[in-house]
Formats: sequence, C-alpha cells, structure tokens
Amino acid sequence: MTTKIIMDTDPGIDDAAALTMAINDPSIDLKLVTAVAGNVTVDKTTANALKIIHFFGKDIPVAAGAEQPLIKPFEDAARIHGESGMPGYDFGNDYGQPIKTTAVEALHDAIMAEDEVTLVPTGSYTNIALLFSEYPEVKSHIKRIVAMGGSMSGGNMTSVAEFNVFTDPDAARIMYNSGIPIVMVGLDVTLKALLTKDTIEKLGQMNKTGEMLHALITHYNDGTDEGRPMHDVNTIFYLLHPEAFTTKKMWVDVQTEGPTIGATVGDVRAAYHDGKTNAEVCLDIDADYFNKWFLDEVSKMN
Ligand code: RIB
Ligand code: CA
Repeated sequence: MTTKIIMDTDPGIDDAAALTMAINDPSIDLKLVTAVAGNVTVDKTTANALKIIHFFGKDIPVAAGAEQPLIKPFEDAARIHGESGMPGYDFGNDYGQPIKTTAVEALHDAIMAEDEVTLVPTGSYTNIALLFSEYPEVKSHIKRIVAMGGSMSGGNMTSVAEFNVFTDPDAARIMYNSGIPIVMVGLDVTLKALLTKDTIEKLGQMNKTGEMLHALITHYNDGTDEGRPMHDVNTIFYLLHPEAFTTKKMWVDVQTEGPTIGATVGDVRAAYHDGKTNAEVCLDIDADYFNKWFLDEVSKMN
C-alpha cells in the first residue's frame, strides 16, 4: 500500500534530501512537486527540484509557484544553502522544464484527481495558502498535511520563529486554520535528529546518490561539523516511521505581526479553543534511528 503525496518545496539542501527519500522509497507515490520561493528564489527552487528528479530519471511533474510571500517581504536563506540553493554537485544543464501550469493550478488538478492525498510542504506555505483561498474544495481530498516548520522551543530566524513560518506567517496562519489535520514537524525534532559526522562520511563512500548528498551536505551552512539538521527529511521519516516520534495534539496559532512574528504558539494546556486541536506536534525523536534509517534508505539507491 503506497502513500500518495505531493511535496511543496524550496530546494534547498535538506529539501533535496527529502525529495531523494520520497522519490526512492517504494511505499511513497510522489504525484507532483511544486516549488516556492524560500531558501532561494523560485526560479532556482524550481530548477533544483527538476535537477533532483532528473538525477533519478523519474517523470514527476514540477510546477513553479509563488515568487514571494503573501504580505511579508521575501528574504532568502542563501547564506545557508548557497546562491544556487544546491551547491557542490554538478547536475548538468539538461534537467527539463517545469509544466506550464502554475503551482496552484497543478496542486488543484493533482489533488482533485485523488480521493485522498497527503500534502508535504517543506518550504514556506504560500502556495498552500493560495490554493486554499482559490480552491477551498480541495480540502476534502487532502488526508493530512505533514509540514516541516514551526517550533515550540525557539526559532532559527528569531528567538521564536522558524524559517518556513517566518518567511510567510500569513500563509502559515491560513494553513493552520484550514481545518485539515496537520502534523507539525518543527525544530523541536529537526534540531535533535542531526546527521552525525560519521553518517555524512559514510554517505560519501556509499553510491552515486550518497556522493551527491555528501557533496551538497558538505556545502550546507546549517548545524556544525558535529551534526547537520536535515529538517525537511524528517517529514518523510515521519510518514514512514511515526513510531520514532513523540507527539502531542494541541491548537497551534501563528503570530503574524510584532516582535514575535512567525512564532507558532501551542496551546499545550488546552486553555483556549475549548480544548479543540488543529495539529499533532512532534516534540521528540529517536535521533539514532533517524541516522540509521537515512543510511539504510540511501544504501538501497544507485
Ligand atoms: O527552518 C528549516 C526550514 O527552512 C527547512 O525547510 C529549510 O529547507 C529551510 O527552508
Ligand atoms: Ca525547505
């Protein structure tokens, strides 16, 4: 039984690793990839998604999405992911073109073609918010959203805000108020499940895929030599091994202005919203299991 997913991404080195896992794991059926401005501009994130899909010789459509957030000015993360968004490896120039339709149109068509599909956003949620605003009917075809982003334990952009939510907090609020079940895969787990130095070294000696990921990760400016966070890969790890996570259901609000803009605020005491919840928040993870799984997955690739 395969899980049908659509990834909305901003490759980005950890997005590239997440796409690698989604493309190659036999229990995942990746129907569509949409790109959004985030780590780098959307022309680059679109090209990078095409490069990864072409690297594996797959025929998965890629659609280009939003060039900027709904309201907040766009700020990239090229300081972390390099100017290209995927430095260190030559993917060549013959990696194809995105489909002609926009990300929102492609998302609508792909979702409405399925009874139920899982959305996996690993960049800002601008495309998702635009989709729900323009085509609310898609919501009944979405089983759940497994989103990288947010944090209950401090930010990586400000003291409280994580990059994907900080980039477009207004879109994040729309997504969290959509009524669709959300699994929040935030910094609470992605900063624990660091790829160790040993894992990264083993990657480089494994196969062509390992070499490619090793080349990207050694040009990645997030984390330290002791460990690199593969934030987005944790969404795919959750889909395949939810037992590796500790989660808690709660209502999550998103701050959209002021000094806490981009913060995800969890109603952990169920003090508001009449005890209703809109998200299952990942609060802990088996980091050793993540490293073992990461190497095991890549070892099965070419
Ligand atoms: O905060 C981490 C997130 O921001 C990841 O999705 C990374 O790719 C960047 O987009
Ligand atoms: Ca990302």
